[in-house]
Amino acid sequence: MNGNEPHGGVLINRCDPACHFEGCTCEAELDQLALSDLELIAIGGYSPLTGFLGEKDYHSVVKEMRLANGLPWSLPITLPVGEKTAKQLSAGDCVKLVKDGITYGMITVTDIYQPDKTQEALSVFKTNDTAHPGVKKLLARPDYYIGGPITVSRLPDKSFEQFYAAPEETRAAFKRLGWKTIVGFQTRNPVHRAHEYIQKTALETVDGLLLHPLVGETKSDDIPSDIRMESYQVLLDHYYPKDRVMLSVFPAAMRYAGPREAIFHALVRKNYGCTHFIVGRDHAGVGSYYGTYDAQNIFQAFTEEELGIKPLFFEHSFYCRKCGNMGTSKTCPHSQRDHIHLSGTKVRELLRQGKKPPKEFSRPEVANVLIKGLHQQPVAIQQNSGGLQ
Ligand code: ADX
Repeated sequence: MNGNEPHGGVLINRCDPACHFEGCTCEAELDQLALSDLELIAIGGYSPLTGFLGEKDYHSVVKEMRLANGLPWSLPITLPVGEKTAKQLSAGDCVKLVKDGITYGMITVTDIYQPDKTQEALSVFKTNDTAHPGVKKLLARPDYYIGGPITVSRLPDKSFEQFYAAPEETRAAFKRLGWKTIVGFQTRNPVHRAHEYIQKTALETVDGLLLHPLVGETKSDDIPSDIRMESYQVLLDHYYPKDRVMLSVFPAAMRYAGPREAIFHALVRKNYGCTHFIVGRDHAGVGSYYGTYDAQNIFQAFTEEELGIKPLFFEHSFYCRKCGNMGTSKTCPHSQRDHIHLSGTKVRELLRQGKKPPKEFSRPEVANVLIKGLHQQPVAIQQNSGGLQ
């Protein structure tokens, strides 16, 4: 497998600081999700996309999990606009893309269309329940989509500049380090022992690990990204070999689309230069909308060649008191009574009381950072209703 091949063969770059807007006939206001999508298209994270999906690609992605040309692509990357804007546009128009008074770039419109959002929700999220955060977001966005190639004049401000690397930069770094096989790890949570176990198990067989936490928009009860970033650094400092791990941020928003988002997460990490990608239990899941291993089973819809990145599947991992180490049902013969399992609610409760979860669940250094961080953000804790996983 060639780890240097981006999805579709070419690493896209749609950044042009000199881009001018004289030809633009109107403006569209981006929401946070659209802004992060704009950034990821521009820097090549979403290669081969050069813009927001046109109607043909949209229908093909929603129905078949493929672009109209057959290439695997599992999530519709769309730019919603209100009816008033949609009605004044025609194909060929240029629209300035703005958020909170800042111009980020423009789109050359090829398509203006009205999606069937119920169908989109049922296909992408497997539910149209408005309690699902991804469905809620989808339905709250404006009702028309515009598609077409984008040009970006300015990237959003970077909240973790030191840890920001565009796909061409991670690729260059892997080359410099001499890593030929790289496993990507997506997370929106602090790294607990189970995450560490599956990362290190993977790292036994490849050259390097890209710890790639998502730092875009998440639901309010997920742990804020600044606290998570601190917890990752402390964990890496104490427990990981420095020359085999790279910590870098993934500026995407979370969609909570479970299985479809697992495919998407893998393809995007391929663009960042990864050759392997970890999918554990309930990847990108929320509540009980998806089965524990649905996000692994969905990979059967594609061949490894067409994905171009090798998924590494892991079962639910835990610490077993009898084994005296981490394992899964594949490696541990003991009963659940011997396994340390803490619900998200329990972990939160402990952290809120300033108590550390058992060291078999979370490294004490990580727990300290979480306790300190969450105590400085009491509002974030009180809003918690599902959070830590
Ligand atoms: S998410 O983005 O997939 O929602 P999360 O941080 O919860 O992020 O999980 C990161 C990765 O670790 C995912 O691939 C998930 O499936 C896996 N994972 C989390 N907890 C466990 C566990 N106890 N056992 C096995 N895999 C796990």
